[in-house]
Amino acid sequence: MIKEIRQIQKEALEALAAAKDEKAIESVVIRFLGRKGALTGFLRNIAQLPVQERAAAGKQANTAKRSLEAAVQKARDGIQPSDKAPAEGIDISLPGRRCTPGSAHPISQVTQEICGILERMGFSVAEGPEVETDYYNFEALNVPKYHPARDMQDTFYISDNIVLRTQTSPMQIRVMENQSPPVAVIAPGKVFRCDSDLTHTPMFHQVEGLLVDENVSFADLKGTLTAFVHEMFDSATTLRFRPSFFPFTEPSAEVDILCVMCRGKGCRVCSHSGWVEILGSGMVHPNVFRSVGYDTTRYTGFAFGMGVERIAMLKYGIDDIRKFFTNDMRFLRQF
Ligand code: DAH
Repeated sequence: MIKEIRQIQKEALEALAAAKDEKAIESVVIRFLGRKGALTGFLRNIAQLPVQERAAAGKQANTAKRSLEAAVQKARDGIQPSDKAPAEGIDISLPGRRCTPGSAHPISQVTQEICGILERMGFSVAEGPEVETDYYNFEALNVPKYHPARDMQDTFYISDNIVLRTQTSPMQIRVMENQSPPVAVIAPGKVFRCDSDLTHTPMFHQVEGLLVDENVSFADLKGTLTAFVHEMFDSATTLRFRPSFFPFTEPSAEVDILCVMCRGKGCRVCSHSGWVEILGSGMVHPNVFRSVGYDTTRYTGFAFGMGVERIAMLKYGIDDIRKFFTNDMRFLRQF
């Protein structure tokens, strides 16, 4: 009896070793383990054996069955995926999925364009942390704690002294701490504020600019920004320097351009004023130089900070800033 089982087991293992694909393995399973298979038939007939042989034969047959099942599993695992029958539900006659080339996000494209123009003028690019200390984001920029100017830039606090930066201006401090004049640097990057509506998102992008040397004047600021705007838009774009206040510059100016949509006639984009604000700027405040140890009797400088989304909206005639960040492919494919 035992011999008979051994024989069946031997034959089964040999057949299994010769089975090279899933179909062959399945036919071995049917031949030995299936309902009418050799081993199954043997187990079914055990009742007809003499009583004293039944227990040993049953035990032997069951052990053989289990080891055969394990061998089958091993054989199944061993076959290559290409030998496997396609899983149910896959229709191999379907056309393939086309892989379309992507493109840089419009904000990345405009950032690159802004930086490209300024780099050609001689500015070099610096990048820094988006999670910033209160000191770099405010204090060193002449914005003491509890100063009302902080109100406009309410942000996300990590802790009392660590914030998501509200502006790229802290890069002015980081660069000047590590470099003596002359300095000509721009700093692109993400900034964050607690703001959300048609023209504000909690995260947006700025490009900061800083130039420090001997004899830098407001005329240099005007000339640089005028040349920049003429390249970014076109040479017919008129600029307007409007007196303003920033704690880190004195004097300060906001720069408006004649609305590129209506050329000054008045439209929705410029709130019917004919002008659109594109950046803040000014002559670096002596207190900012003091916080990095620059000699305020020897050096002067100008700085500016522009909103990338604002410039992109004007350039492409986009009326809702949120379109940049909702991942609608119909919108993004146009760039
Ligand atoms: N950091 C200012 C803001 O986010 C923009 C700005 C204004 C930057 C004047 C400057 C500057 O460098 O000189 O509103």
